[in-house]
Amino acid sequence: MRVLVTGDRGYIGAVLVPFIQAVGHEVIGLDAGWYDGCDFGPAPAGVRSSTADVREVTAGDLAGFDAILHLAAISNDPIGHLNPEATYSVNAAGAVHLATVAKAAGVPRFLFSSSCSLYGAAGDAPVAEDGKFNPVTPYGESKVLAEQGISALADDTFSPTFLRNATAYGSSPRLRADIVVNNLTGTAFTRGEVRLQSDGSPWRPLVHIEDISRAFLAVLEAPRDVVHNEAFNVGRDVDVVQVRDVALQVAQTLNAPVTFASGAGPDKRDYRVDFSKITERLPAFRPAWTVAAGIQQLAGDMARYELKAEDFEGPRFVRLARIRELSQAGRLDEELRLRDTAELAR
Ligand SMILES: NC(=O)c1ccc[n+]([C@@H]2O[C@H](COP(=O)([O-])OP(=O)(O)OC[C@H]3O[C@@H](n4cnc5c(N)ncnc54)[C@H](O)[C@@H]3O)[C@@H](O)[C@H]2O)c1
Repeated sequence: MRVLVTGDRGYIGAVLVPFIQAVGHEVIGLDAGWYDGCDFGPAPAGVRSSTADVREVTAGDLAGFDAILHLAAISNDPIGHLNPEATYSVNAAGAVHLATVAKAAGVPRFLFSSSCSLYGAAGDAPVAEDGKFNPVTPYGESKVLAEQGISALADDTFSPTFLRNATAYGSSPRLRADIVVNNLTGTAFTRGEVRLQSDGSPWRPLVHIEDISRAFLAVLEAPRDVVHNEAFNVGRDVDVVQVRDVALQVAQTLNAPVTFASGAGPDKRDYRVDFSKITERLPAFRPAWTVAAGIQQLAGDMARYELKAEDFEGPRFVRLARIRELSQAGRLDEELRLRDTAELAR
């Protein structure tokens, strides 16, 4: 298949693209390039990627693709809080725009990188795909709005699928420091302590980025009727864990004590997720990673690439810090649109 991957130069994209290419699909990327140069080890290579904003894409840009894997987004809560308008503009309106022009261009499949955070505060029972949306942040809400807008476009010619990923972890050439497993491992590695930002009680579903890539591939290659306008929680039941258990695993692996950041209190993002649907309907999706193996992988790469605390805690790996840096340098406007694509283009 000929596949367009948006957000190919981000944390998940940098691992997903080679994974999809490895089984013989042709991949073209499209990315605003916000994290170009923010490398962890060798820079991602081997894919043709254009520098553009998904909000500006036209049907003409999308002709001839068999599928779009839409990952490009403002990808976390802190940026969502800093700039809710931009989050809705990119993650909701931008995603619906891209799906609309994809349909107009005759692209039959649209795989949307959604998030379990649209379930928000969901109570004690594990929540399945038909569970209630209860997002507690603009980021979570933007994913609800995107799903609703894109789903309305589904018809005989256009099949969207919503991959509601658990919180990702794992090593990537575009590492992120601002997601829980990576953050705890990196802090243990660079500072010698596992510093919890909350009291550690919240439940979080976790999934390795290579397993997210496996889920995208399984949906891409599944018969249309299995995935047409369907949502899938992406993760697995054994990896729905309490943050403090992750902290203990990191502490054990890196031989570092668990500490609490000042003001560490409860975290509103507390939810358990049911992953039976993806297991039953998409047997090709067989996750291969465990959190313990992911911590080992991260720690190994951190040693290999000699990760320093200043880097781990700064714009190279913290998404919010990088967006602030680009905005302050005048490279992004208030809606986080590139002022000059040529400047960031590679
Ligand atoms: N990482 C996670 O834990 C996680 C969990 C669930 C869902 N997701 C979703 O998966 C997707 C990828 O996440 P990630 O962790 O790789 O994020 P990331 O921030 O590392 O990468 C996002 C990429 O999108 C690009 N981008 C942002 N806005 C754009 C725009 N308007 N036009 C073109 N490109 C743009 C950025 O330049 C970046 O390369 C996102 O949709 C995110 O919401 C991530």
